[in-house]
Amino acid sequence: MSTDPRAYARQNLDRFRRELYDFLRIPSVSAKTEHAGDMAAAAEWLRARLQEAGLAAEIRETPGHPIVLGKWTGAGSDAPTVLIYGHYDVQPPEPLEEWHAPPFEPTERDGRVYARGAADDKGQLYMHVKALEAHLSATGRLPVNVIVLAEGEEEVGSVNLVPFVERHAAELACDYVVISDSNMFDEGMPSILFSLRGLAYLEVHVTGPRGDLHSGQFGGTVANPANALAKILASLHDAQGRVAVEGFYDDVVEWDAETRERIRKLPFDEERYRRELGVDALAGEEGWNTLERLWIRPTCDVNGLLSGYTGEGAKTVLPARAMAKVSFRLVPDQTPERIAELVRAHVERVAPEGVRVEVRELHGGRPWRANLEGALVHAASEALQEAFGVPAVLQGEGGSIPIVVDFEEKLGASALLVGFALPGCNLHAPNEWFPLEHFDRGIEALVALYKKLGTA
Ligand code: BES
Ligand code: ZN
Repeated sequence: MSTDPRAYARQNLDRFRRELYDFLRIPSVSAKTEHAGDMAAAAEWLRARLQEAGLAAEIRETPGHPIVLGKWTGAGSDAPTVLIYGHYDVQPPEPLEEWHAPPFEPTERDGRVYARGAADDKGQLYMHVKALEAHLSATGRLPVNVIVLAEGEEEVGSVNLVPFVERHAAELACDYVVISDSNMFDEGMPSILFSLRGLAYLEVHVTGPRGDLHSGQFGGTVANPANALAKILASLHDAQGRVAVEGFYDDVVEWDAETRERIRKLPFDEERYRRELGVDALAGEEGWNTLERLWIRPTCDVNGLLSGYTGEGAKTVLPARAMAKVSFRLVPDQTPERIAELVRAHVERVAPEGVRVEVRELHGGRPWRANLEGALVHAASEALQEAFGVPAVLQGEGGSIPIVVDFEEKLGASALLVGFALPGCNLHAPNEWFPLEHFDRGIEALVALYKKLGTA
């Protein structure tokens, strides 16, 4: 066996993939209670792999799904401690009929593995486990002290992780947090994130008459909750594509000129982006280009609508209720709590007379901005360049990972977000996939990253 971690990783890539496929076969869908057993099984599977790799690994129960914790502290108190975070839960696979192969039966095709969780986040989390194994098996040690923390509730808002991190801040104390749960800029083009957007996720409930009514017999005499909801939703944007909730932009901080210049210089092909999304034209807030709209501007989007009759044919009915799920992506220094308050006030103000409205908060997460100075980003840039053969780019990200800001605040550490998926990997959608080449190169990059952090 090799004594070089990188050579060890290269020699074992086939086995690493096969193990990942076992992980992907466990349907760890956190949103559905029927999968509670699968959640426990996935946690235990991961714990056992961490232990095999040479870490002290345990399951820590929470009021929700368990947390998997792995530790290796043999690098000594002079070496930095790295906390590696990821999540073993996945999004529900529905609609099932749109998958070309079953979601929990990993299938290799065209250099990709297709399965729910392949990219988000089991595949990327497992790359870290294998990078640690490569060091431990090849050299008997790690260059840094390591805490692996994998949660089972990221896709449902990390509600139990925040108090866990607070309560165990001393145990989880670290210098760096490393997370792979995001994308590269393009195929073969590694990247480091300079930001993540935050999230405020709300439900708007509109109630009208005591029950559904004949739309001819009563239509025109009472407020229709579906009409009212449409009016409320339409009022959320102005003609320039800005969010029309009073006070919404109050806490948005101007981005520095350097970040905007960095965005402008990226080789972004807007026409290809449009084509791949299958739309006739791109749309958004006036005065900002596509990457700015995606990374550094806040948004409002309806995620789901429910009201009235939607079955086959026509049914003349005036629905008694209507509901919309609405998400707001946030940028520094907006907070989910304040945004929810502002939206509630807005909805109550614009709701037509004759209906009752209620705004419920589901979950949220704060936006994050990276500290790009220092050893962490430097080590990551070098490691990525060595493994992928090209320099890493700095990019923003439109999605959210709620716990990142809590980690930085409560553990006093800096976070590095280095992801290996691609924007087209169908996260949360049917036919999710992960590029196998990125799995292999990425493990090599992580092997190099830990080495560099140990000697930085
Ligand atoms: N891995 C994603 C975050 C992400 C998405 C990063 C796209 C990069 C590109 C994560 O698992 C996720 O889906 N987060 C949720 C957060 C929510 C459930 C609180 C999101 O962004 O919707
Ligand atoms: Zn996700």
